[in-house]
Amino acid sequence: MSVKIGNIDLGKFPLLLAPMEDVSDPPFRYVCKQNGVDMMYTEFISSEGLIRDAAKSRQKLDIFEYERPIGIQIFGSNIESMREATRIATLANPDLIDINYGCPVKNVACRGAGASLLQDIDKMTAMTKAVVESTHLPVTVKTRLGWDDNTKNVDQVAERLQDVGIQALTIHGRTRSQMYKGQADWSMIRDIKRNPRIGIPIFGNGDVDSIEKAANWRLEYEVDGIMIGRAAIGYPWIFREIKHFFETGETLAGPTIAERVDVCLTHLNKSIEWKGEKTGIFEMRRHYSNYFKGIPNFKEFRMKLVSSENVADIRSVLDEITETFEAEMA
Ligand SMILES: Cc1cc2nc3c(=O)[nH]c(=O)nc-3n(C[C@H](O)[C@H](O)[C@H](O)COP(=O)(O)O)c2cc1C
Repeated sequence: MSVKIGNIDLGKFPLLLAPMEDVSDPPFRYVCKQNGVDMMYTEFISSEGLIRDAAKSRQKLDIFEYERPIGIQIFGSNIESMREATRIATLANPDLIDINYGCPVKNVACRGAGASLLQDIDKMTAMTKAVVESTHLPVTVKTRLGWDDNTKNVDQVAERLQDVGIQALTIHGRTRSQMYKGQADWSMIRDIKRNPRIGIPIFGNGDVDSIEKAANWRLEYEVDGIMIGRAAIGYPWIFREIKHFFETGETLAGPTIAERVDVCLTHLNKSIEWKGEKTGIFEMRRHYSNYFKGIPNFKEFRMKLVSSENVADIRSVLDEITETFEAEMA
């Protein structure tokens, strides 16, 4: 049976790209889409920023037809601002609006937004209701297990937010206090799936970085789909590898050097197209080591990639990488 969010049909067991600030921008989303991801989200967008018309927030609203289905993720601490931001985000015409109640970072969570709403479920519920009322689009939520070990309350959150109309819930199996440390624990996610009161799709998130983990956790935790973040950075093939395994039971070979170079170049070209040459080249620097992770003696090439200031130089380093490693890695 297909997983559905409103009218959006996500297929049998969707793989979602996690919203990631400074990572899941249109160039990165492009290479994930090429590799079979079923649904994507923008980076989180500040409701206050949208209302102020801040350029950085506005730019994050840019979405493209080929990206569908795509959700715009917003966050904030003020209910009226979230209402207004929902209206603005809806005008950008995404397929859904997602609310971030998971961000643990101090300047978000400590200003009463993101994961801090886990400490005030009444406010979280009122805010969610306001967002649902402010758009004709489906609204989804992404959150964590709770604020800390003593207050793991995502089970209550799931019921209350479903009652005010959210149409899917993604749970990162950590508390706010854990930030990104320790291991994600998905057992509470399974409890929510098993709650007979819960009818909306529940997506599991946190630490999925291999075909084996995706396959095992799908069975063990009974989720409707999996959201992947960090493991896709520099390795968008993770989506096609997991999908291929689910469809055929077979494990695809990993990307060749030529494929890595090719996807890296596509990412760079899209970066330049969308951000302009200077920023596009600069912001791509954080991705190179991920694309070529595990390749021995790569440092010299990485240094060249991150110090090159024009596209022609970067392309020739990438050619050199193909030539140097293709035979070696074959
Ligand atoms: C660099 C980075 C930026 C992130 N930005 C966001 C964000 O904007 N919105 C959000 O809901 N979560 C954000 N997250 C959390 C991820 O969406 C995800 O929940 C987390 O990384 C756990 O999943 P993973 O183990 O598959 O990476 C971010 C994580 C990282 C590493």
